[in-house]
Amino acid sequence: MPSYFAVVPAAGSGSRLGHETPKQYLMLQGRPLVEHAVSRLARSPRIERVLVVLAPGDTRFGEFDWQVYSDKLVPLYCGGPTRAASVFNGLLAASDMADEGDWMLVHDAARPCLARADIERLIEEVGDDPTGGLLAVPVADTLKRADGAGRVAATEPREGLWQAQTPQMFRYELLLRALRTADPAAVTDEACAIEALGLRPRLVQGSLRNIKVTYPQDLALAAAILAGEEN
Ligand code: CTP
Ligand code: MG
Repeated sequence: MPSYFAVVPAAGSGSRLGHETPKQYLMLQGRPLVEHAVSRLARSPRIERVLVVLAPGDTRFGEFDWQVYSDKLVPLYCGGPTRAASVFNGLLAASDMADEGDWMLVHDAARPCLARADIERLIEEVGDDPTGGLLAVPVADTLKRADGAGRVAATEPREGLWQAQTPQMFRYELLLRALRTADPAAVTDEACAIEALGLRPRLVQGSLRNIKVTYPQDLALAAAILAGEEN
């Protein structure tokens, strides 16, 4: 039976959020953003270890208390200049833990509202799929293409379009191979690297609550989503 590992890239700078503190360390309900992602993955009994990929010079991670996760949490100080490079380096660092057929669930540190049901559905629906898959939601809004001058140039059909989320799960050897040959600047998620090999990752229905904190207003939105969960 393959094992399941989570890989949480957390080596970014959060430039679009505009804080001096990298966004993974901004506080949300009394805990750093990255801990929400870690705790949701660590709570899943299916997941054997949660590997957090940090920037090599990161000094903030160690300022928090992670004891409750004991050795289920593995910090790896090997982040790279892009998200794809951070994930790739994390996979390389996991070579003594993971076998080639094990599943790697890559999840952004910047997505604190991942529901347990979504992790379960992803794992169930991907099953033993030879390619793997990702959480995603069908695009709901009408899509406009801008003309570069603040006006609508065209309305784009949204039929068949999905917004990719994370986790994205692929087998260790396949993901390593895909990322090794990918252009890290062009690959914004794991599925994209897998697609470049000519494969078609499975789309698994996710939830709109699984937002990525990207812009300043997203932090308040994430707080509202988490507050709603408690009621
Ligand atoms: N990430 C990473 N290594 C990088 C860049 C990003 O591990 N070199 C991580 C981020 O920490 C985040 C996830 O990848 O958890 C998703 O990336 P994104 O939302 O783009 O975060 P940042 O790159 O930090 O933000 P920005 O693009 O606004 O600078
Ligand atoms: Mg980024």
